[in-house]
Amino acid sequence: MSEENKNGGNGGSGASGNGKNGGRVGVLEKVTTTVKEDIQALKTDIPTKAKEQIDGLKDPTKTQVYTSIFRHKHDDTPRNRALGVLSNVFLHLHPAKINRDAVRYSYTWGMGGITFYLFIILTYTGVLLMFYYHPTKVQAFRDVLYLEHDVPFGKILRNMHRWAAHLMVIAVWLHMFRVFLTGSYKKPREFNWNIGVLLLVFTLLLSFTGYLLPDDQLGFWAVTVGTNMARATPMLGHEGPFGPQLGMTPYNDVRFGLLGGSIVDANALLRSYIWHCIGIPIVASVLMIVHFWRVRKDGGISGPAPVMLTEEADKPRRGPKAAGE
Ligand code: HEM
Repeated sequence: MSEENKNGGNGGSGASGNGKNGGRVGVLEKVTTTVKEDIQALKTDIPTKAKEQIDGLKDPTKTQVYTSIFRHKHDDTPRNRALGVLSNVFLHLHPAKINRDAVRYSYTWGMGGITFYLFIILTYTGVLLMFYYHPTKVQAFRDVLYLEHDVPFGKILRNMHRWAAHLMVIAVWLHMFRVFLTGSYKKPREFNWNIGVLLLVFTLLLSFTGYLLPDDQLGFWAVTVGTNMARATPMLGHEGPFGPQLGMTPYNDVRFGLLGGSIVDANALLRSYIWHCIGIPIVASVLMIVHFWRVRKDGGISGPAPVMLTEEADKPRRGPKAAGE
């Protein structure tokens, strides 16, 4: 075994000498130095952080929460005025400049775009389904059977809607997963991440409200179980923490509001239908507009860390720049 290995592989500090003991002293020295450095860093970090917090309280417009939501003003210089025009989404739908690596398919998997595409398919097929469907206990299930067996292309229409709905839920999760993996939720995209979280909730709500509409056994029991959970909502459910103390009963709590009654019946079907076809799609569409606008305003899709392997750097470049370089 080499002398270095005997010393614990730490290279053996000159002062600590050779052998087992010297190795231990070397490690001890290293730990002591690191701890000292950490303490020193804390001495400067803590006051700086505390100052930031206090400044935030004095002037909330300088806090990270505020600056992530409200976009900051620029100095009035000729360059910034030109940038104002170039980065205006309404004047230039396409950005003037994009990050080549960020638009690589393997970076985003195109999942945000695919989610949006599925939403468009759902809106289109959903409107067509509305021509054949009545949200009443007598007709709902019959309409579904009519679509499946009698309406020309009815079966494919219904299944396009159903499959696109399942796929949208999968795609939105994958999109969120990739945003997380690429760290794109960090500054300056914190606000858009939060809009995204709302979009996820509304996507799931769309799926849930649609489930009851065929008025079959599957939907009926799924909604019975789902809305039963609402009984336990803190403060707003009659079985939730502080609910009974605040006067919640099965006839006035949040579950009652969702179902329009105390059981899953005709009112629940009508409410699901209205939320599914009008309320949630409108809110989701507005949020999507804000989401897309914000992607652009936050500087386009976040780029991968600017790291390049030597062999990659040596490779000839693709694109219009390659010839002139
Ligand atoms: C209806 C649901 C959604 C739609 C249609 C949608 C659409 C998009 C699109 C088209 C992009 C451009 C880049 C890409 O395709 O990946 C994007 C970016 C982004 N999305 Fe979503 N999104 C949705 C839900 C979400 C969710 C659930 C989150 C996270 C909680 C999220 C957070 C973000 C963030 C932070 C960016 C910027 C990413 C970057 O700059 O790399 N989105 N979204």
